Amino acid sequence: MVHYYTAGESHGSKLVTLLEGVPAGVEVQTDDIVLELAKRRLGTGRGDRQKFEKDAVRIVAGVIHGKTIGSPIAIEIENSEWHKWDKIMSPDPYDSSALNSQLQPNVPKKERSSQLVKPRPGHADLEGMLKYGFATARNVLERASARETAARVAAGTVAKKFLEQVCGTTVRYQVVQFGACKRQDATDDNEFMQLCENAALDAKKRGETIGGIVQVIAEDVPRGLGSYATGKTRLDAALSASVMSIQAFKGVEIGDGFALATTFGTEAHDHIVLDEFGALTRTSNHAGGIEGGISNGMPVVVRAVVKPIPSVPGGLPTINMQTRTEDSAHSQRSDTSAVFPASVVASSMVALTLADFVCSKFGSDSLEEITANFKAHQLRIRNLVERGVDV
Ligand SMILES: Cc1cc2nc3c(=O)[nH]c(=O)nc-3n(C[C@H](O)[C@H](O)[C@H](O)COP(=O)(O)O)c2cc1C
Repeated sequence: MVHYYTAGESHGSKLVTLLEGVPAGVEVQTDDIVLELAKRRLGTGRGDRQKFEKDAVRIVAGVIHGKTIGSPIAIEIENSEWHKWDKIMSPDPYDSSALNSQLQPNVPKKERSSQLVKPRPGHADLEGMLKYGFATARNVLERASARETAARVAAGTVAKKFLEQVCGTTVRYQVVQFGACKRQDATDDNEFMQLCENAALDAKKRGETIGGIVQVIAEDVPRGLGSYATGKTRLDAALSASVMSIQAFKGVEIGDGFALATTFGTEAHDHIVLDEFGALTRTSNHAGGIEGGISNGMPVVVRAVVKPIPSVPGGLPTINMQTRTEDSAHSQRSDTSAVFPASVVASSMVALTLADFVCSKFGSDSLEEITANFKAHQLRIRNLVERGVDV
């Protein structure tokens, strides 16, 4: 129902997002996207590129006077650094010998194509070069780079607005672990942030990068999204796949996830009890809001591991593809950690997936129609939960 495409290279003129299937009537404005993108750009561990790369956003289709019109939504994010890259990244042919001359003096020497013959372990560089037959990693890294996630965040902003407006669903996110720093070990948010800052500074000094764990919690998710009927229709499977599709994500869990391996069956599940008014309820949320692939009305909890950024300052051991000799990987300007921005991206993917499932269940034409269907569903479910069903 709701699905997105992105196009664009890291140093290309712009990123483009196409978002299809968003119903008519969703209130969304350019500033909403700008705000969300700002959250992706900043955070502990971010480096220089983020400081001077501003995200200039333009909604070019599908929204009129602040409301979606039910047609595909197109969003562009300009590359403010394009003037430095317009020749290296020119879509039309150019004299390639000019690349290493004075033609593009603003581009640091190490970022010119001639330098990109030393593939970075942990990136798509080597496998991309081999798969597509490229002599340098330029064409690979331009698309494999996580700059693409800005386009996902733009799409996710629309999905978040839709979810809020149709069923009051909110999608919150946070970093729960940054390297060895765990949120649960800190007394409060400030202390945790300070620990993360210190860890990032220390890592930077040592020429290291840091991974971590992000958590996304969606509250007020309607019951009944997804189904056990097939693997494809399971909400947990779709959420995992969408979060796992983000660059650098290496593991996803729903609810207690991997901790369930060491939990006994009597403690691992959310017992069904009656509340003081005789309605069905749960005393815990180990399942993270999903049972049998179906949302159960509890908060949907997704956690995921982000690996340390593979572009380490000194460059990891690799082979120079031109000379076939041992070398250090080319090191592009890079951050110390992607964990904080990755948490924003993860929330965007969760929102896009939930929006898709909401439309599958309640309709996809207009906010008005979906809201009416959602309310009827809520009433039906409430009756069943409060009063029961004749068996
Ligand atoms: C938001 C975000 C920002 C990232 N920034 C960088 C970066 O500055 N430098 C880097 O080497 N990798 C960065 N990465 C990670 C790489 O994009 C990723 O590891 C690479 O594309 C290889 O893909 P894979 O790890 O999924 O195999 C970032 C990832 C995310 C999600």
